[in-house]
Amino acid sequence: MKKYVIQGGKPLTGEVSISGAKNAVVAILTAAVLAESPCVIENIPAISDVKYIAKILESLGALVEEVEPSVLRIDPTNVHSMVVAPEHASRLRASYYFLGALLAKFGKAQVPLPGGCDFGVRPIDLHLKGFESLGASYRLERGVVHLSSEELSGDHIYFDKVTVGATINVMLAAVKAKGLTVIENAAKEPHIVDLANFLNSMGANIMGAGTDIIKIKGVDHLYGTEYSIIPDQIEAGTFMAMAAATHGDVLVKNVIPKHMEPISSKLRRMGVEVTEYDDSIRVRYCGVLKATDVTTRPHPGFPTDMQPQIAAVLCLADGISIVREGVWDSRFKYIDELRRMGADVSVNERVAVIKGIDHFVGAPVRAVDLRAGAAVVIAALAAEGVSEIENVRYIERGYERIVQKLRNLGADIECVTVEEEALV
Ligand code: EPU
Repeated sequence: MKKYVIQGGKPLTGEVSISGAKNAVVAILTAAVLAESPCVIENIPAISDVKYIAKILESLGALVEEVEPSVLRIDPTNVHSMVVAPEHASRLRASYYFLGALLAKFGKAQVPLPGGCDFGVRPIDLHLKGFESLGASYRLERGVVHLSSEELSGDHIYFDKVTVGATINVMLAAVKAKGLTVIENAAKEPHIVDLANFLNSMGANIMGAGTDIIKIKGVDHLYGTEYSIIPDQIEAGTFMAMAAATHGDVLVKNVIPKHMEPISSKLRRMGVEVTEYDDSIRVRYCGVLKATDVTTRPHPGFPTDMQPQIAAVLCLADGISIVREGVWDSRFKYIDELRRMGADVSVNERVAVIKGIDHFVGAPVRAVDLRAGAAVVIAALAAEGVSEIENVRYIERGYERIVQKLRNLGADIECVTVEEEALV
């Protein structure tokens, strides 16, 4: 088992380059099965979720080749299977994108219910409703979703909740459906736009991605393409939060500043200096952090995937901050870990009340999920003393070479391998 050992208290300074977006790459690699010739995809982050998607692609018959670091060539011409194995699907949430993609390719798909971070109930009813509207039928058998259709045809689909996953799955299913599909109340996250751009570069006809109405005119063929994944908004936001919490000064490079606006504006309100350049953002601590309220919302609101990281910074702000989680039922499990390090936070369902403290104190803690793991790394970097963080496999699902990137910024962090203790 690996753990991170962090001696806190070192301000982060210097430059960090942001990798390709996790939530875009998992959708785009899956979409590559739809092509009739190979795709070359650049700016692929070296994270474990990419490895799991690549494994699923290979198990279906695709050839996946790393042509150079961060560039994958996917040849889907021999994809023959529409069955995803449970041991692959359970590794990550995004495995359910094979439902939409294989349904579009073969008119049927068998994909087990997905794994992923545990934020309470994570239903897929809206994905299934979307597939049904396109003419597919489904049944759930022993944890596996079986989809089939004679012929998919476009329809008007209204989501009564904004959902990233169902918007992506319906886009994947609809690109080759007959006629026009209209998705209303669609998610608008940057990775939705990135997937639409990728599919359009394969020959799809998708309009309106990034607004709440997406129109998809079905096409008969999709072809291989060359494409580069957008930078990861949440990785960038995490380094911005780290700079603020450690009283640092960091130039976060390879970002799209527009995507960062909800995060930049919160940090500014906390008294942090945030300066935008064409494709980078400088974040500089300049004196006492101020308490601020945060409510998470679908894009362009403050992203739920930054909620734990901003809460860790707010623990160090002067005054009382209120953090409201507007997307997930249960995304405050990590607060217990921050409390071990001295945080003063009370949680009531989807609301956390944070009373600022002077500093965190290093402690043994664990990552309870991916972004929760990033929050405890932030606390540990800012803390007095040494912290040991367990369960770092969660963190490595979504952050490429995080230890190296932090060391380059002056952090005292080591990744050590420890023997698992035998249970007695
Ligand atoms: N929802 C339903 N029914 C559905 C689908 C969703 O009720 O059929 C509800 C959910 O329970 C939730 C809300 O709708 O309350 C939003 O869920 P959404 O479908 O948008 O989430 P997701 O697609 O499962 C993606 C990201 C998450 C991120 C959310 C929200 C990927 C692989 N995952 O999840 O990212 O939190 O959107 O932005 O894209 C992360 O990267 O750490 C992460 C968890």
